[in-house]
Amino acid sequence: MNIDWEKLHSAAKEVMKNAYAPYSNFKVGVAALVDDGRIVVGCNSENASYGVGLCAECGLISSLTASGGGRLIATVCVDKNGEYLSPCGRCRQLLFEHGGNEMLFMTPDGPKKFSTLLPWAFGPEDLK
Ligand code: THU
Repeated sequence: MNIDWEKLHSAAKEVMKNAYAPYSNFKVGVAALVDDGRIVVGCNSENASYGVGLCAECGLISSLTASGGGRLIATVCVDKNGEYLSPCGRCRQLLFEHGGNEMLFMTPDGPKKFSTLLPWAFGPEDLK
C-alpha cells in the first residue's frame, strides 16, 4: 500500500491542536494509516489527577478499535511544534499490539520498522 507520509504528518499536526494539555503544555498528536486505507488519529488528554492523563497514542488505539479495528501500517507522532516525536514506552507496547514488528514509524531519520523501536517485544504471539 502506498504511504502518504505528508498526509499522515498533516493529520498528526492537525489533531495535535486539539490536545488537552493544560498541565504539561506539551501537546502531542498522532496519526496512523490502517490496512483498509483509513486514517486514525489521537491527541493527549491530561487530567487534574496528573498520573491518569492519556497519551495521544491511547486515543489513537481507542479510535482504531472503535472505528472497526485493523492493522496499523504507518504511524507519525508529533510534538507541539509539529516535529517527529518518539513514543513513550507504554505507547510503544500499545502500538505494537496493532502494528507488530512491520509497522513503519516516522523518525527524524526517516521511517523505521517498529521492531527497531521496540526490539524483542512481548505481544499476542507470546500468549499462544
Ligand atoms: N505524551 C504523549 O501523548 N505521547 C507520548 O508518546 C509521550 C508523551 C504526552 C503525555 C503528556 O500529556 C505530555 O505528553 C507530556 O509528557
